[in-house]
Order: sequence, then structure tokens, then C-alpha cells
Amino acid sequence: MTRRRRIYEGKAKVLFEGPEPGTLVQYFKDDATAFNNQKKGVITGKGVLNNRISEYLMVRLGEMGIPTHFVRRLNMREQLVREVEIIPIEVVCRNVAAGSLSKRFGIAEGTQLPRSILEFYYKSDELGDPMVTEEHITAFGWADTQDMDDMISMTLRINDYLSGLFLGIGLKLVDFKVEYGRLWEDEQMRIVLADEISPDNCRLWDSKTNEKLDKDRFRQDLGKVEEAYQEVARRLGILPEGGPADVSGPKVMQ
Ligand code: TMP
Repeated sequence: MTRRRRIYEGKAKVLFEGPEPGTLVQYFKDDATAFNNQKKGVITGKGVLNNRISEYLMVRLGEMGIPTHFVRRLNMREQLVREVEIIPIEVVCRNVAAGSLSKRFGIAEGTQLPRSILEFYYKSDELGDPMVTEEHITAFGWADTQDMDDMISMTLRINDYLSGLFLGIGLKLVDFKVEYGRLWEDEQMRIVLADEISPDNCRLWDSKTNEKLDKDRFRQDLGKVEEAYQEVARRLGILPEGGPADVSGPKVMQ
């Protein structure tokens, strides 16, 4: 296997230099963290499943007109993506109360929100990703008002599309987090969806039983974490060939 230069290592993924200029290889690890790195673990096969799930969702979103960094999946754990300058903002969209929103406002988990709510967090491990407003984002120059408009409208479209897609396979999209990046083409800049969309950064509940099928199973020690990720892939019709036994794939590269 050819050795590629490592550009960046995050908590769940590694970015390597891509085969041609302007591309990167995004490698999905099995590592899982929660609560800003205080809880650490390994979810066997997660990287393989998230690579597939994120590929599937990015392709579907691309088809309905959301520009993304995704180019193609390369193998079990890697995908080729366009190199973008990540905007250091996590955009969270919520449909149903859960997680930090339930805690902050004392709203019972599972309460339908009156409308979809967007929140912004500044990406900083040292600061624990503090929640910020559009005022902070524009005043500190992390994004300008046009970038914000683009990110907001894309996130709402993603929410509508993914809510429907998941509902069709018996899953409720409770909330999710997305990240965007700046892509330059012929002196022109546009904002594209980046990072990944997977059960690591979505809350997905079974629409009949409200069973959690996402990373909350790891965060809250609910057990059957691998099975939950597999179930999402199974319902999307993309469980790797060979079934669950096939998901551990190649080991993490050193
Ligand atoms: P929260 O309720 O903990 O704020 O999470 C909201 C959504 O964002 C949930 O789907 C999980 C996702 N998320 C991330 O992807 N990364 C993070 O660092 C956090 C805190 C949440």
C-alpha cells in the first residue's frame, strides 16, 4: 500500500494527501469519543459503516443539489474528497428535543420542537466547542453573512431531505450536526458540505419504538452500539457485502 502524507488526524477520521492536487483521502477510524474527548472507546466496524453511510447520504444530497466535498469511496475505510478550507463552525439542526438542548432548557427528551432549530458551535477542543451566535461568527470573521446564509439554507434543505429519507426507512431524524468548507474553483469560492454524515453526528430513533440507533448508545452506555450502526446501514440497504461479519475491515493504519 502506498504511504500517503498525513495532513490531519481528528477524533474519528484521518485526512491524507490525495492522489491529485486539491484532493484528500478521508480515512474512517473505529475510535469514538464523547463529551469533548473525556470518554474514549472503540466501536468495532464503525469506520467501515460510517464510510458507507456517509458516502450514501452525500451522494443522495449531491443529487438533490447540495454541493459536497465527496468524490468517491475508495475502499472499506477511505473516501476521496475535495480539499476544502473547513469553516470552524458546527451547524446543529434539531427537530426533536434531545441531548444538550433538553439539558439546557429542561425539555423532556423526545418532545417535538415547534419548528426546526439551528444552533452554531465554534470548533475548538480547548474551549469545548462553545455555542455561538451569528454575531460572534461574523464579528470574529469565522464566516461572513453570505457564508451564513448559504450554510443556513443548505442545512435546512439537508434537514428536509434527510428527515424524509430516514422516515421512509422507519427512522426519526431527531437532530444532526454538519460542517462546511470553502472550495475554490477558477478564483470563485463556494461553500460545500464537508466532513461526514453518519450515526456519529446524527440522532436517529426508530420511529415506532424510539429506540436509539446512533452514537448516544456509546455516550450513554446503552450497549449494542455496533448493532445500531449496522441497523442504520441495513435499513439504508448498504450493509457491506458479507453482512455484519465483514465490517471490521482493515485495521487502522499506523
Ligand atoms: P448535542 O445535543 O450534544 O448538542 O448534539 C446535537 C447533535 O450534534 C447530535 O446529533 C450529535 C451531534 N454532535 C456532534 O456531531 N459532535 C459534537 O461534538 C456534539 C457535541 C454533537
